[in-house]
Amino acid sequence: MSDTQLEVREIKEYSRAFKIIASDDRGKEIGHAMLYLMQDESHTKPIGYFSNLLVDKDFRGAGIGSKLAKKVISEAERLGCYKLLCSSRDSRGIVDWYKRLGYRAHSTSFRIDFCDGGGKLE
Ligand SMILES: CC(C)(COP(=O)(O)OP(=O)(O)OC[C@H]1O[C@@H](n2cnc3c(N)ncnc32)[C@H](O)[C@@H]1OP(=O)(O)O)[C@@H](O)C(=O)NCCC(=O)NCCS
Repeated sequence: MSDTQLEVREIKEYSRAFKIIASDDRGKEIGHAMLYLMQDESHTKPIGYFSNLLVDKDFRGAGIGSKLAKKVISEAERLGCYKLLCSSRDSRGIVDWYKRLGYRAHSTSFRIDFCDGGGKLE
């Protein structure tokens, strides 16, 4: 099958992105999380992908990260996802934290880095 042709077709309506923002009493952002919805052609419901969970250093340990992560779970369910995925860089420590929120460790992630840090802004 050496003459097989591959076409890349962008399907914009198959993905949506939501930013969940935690703010202090003055409205200043102190943490956030991203929820991506990805649709494929094998399922009627989308997959949710949870990433970029970050709480400002000064506000850590007060339950804000847990609150954001729980909101991601309830939003993914509300938006009709049939499953929610996320992966963690820190395989040693953070696993128990995710387990306390209801996640279970599942499968193995694979990764290819195309550039250092992904053009990180901060
Ligand atoms: C992880 C993070 C979002 C937690 O936010 P938070 O508001 O402090 O979370 P909570 O207050 O709800 O929970 C704090 C608990 O998580 C634990 N925790 C946080 N980061 C951890 C880590 N990397 N490894 C192990 N435990 C961790 C804390 O020790 C604390 O435990 P305790 O409840 O037993 O005291 C925050 O530390 C952060 O922004 N870290 C940098 C970015 C990051 O690692 N994001 C997650 C990528 S997978």
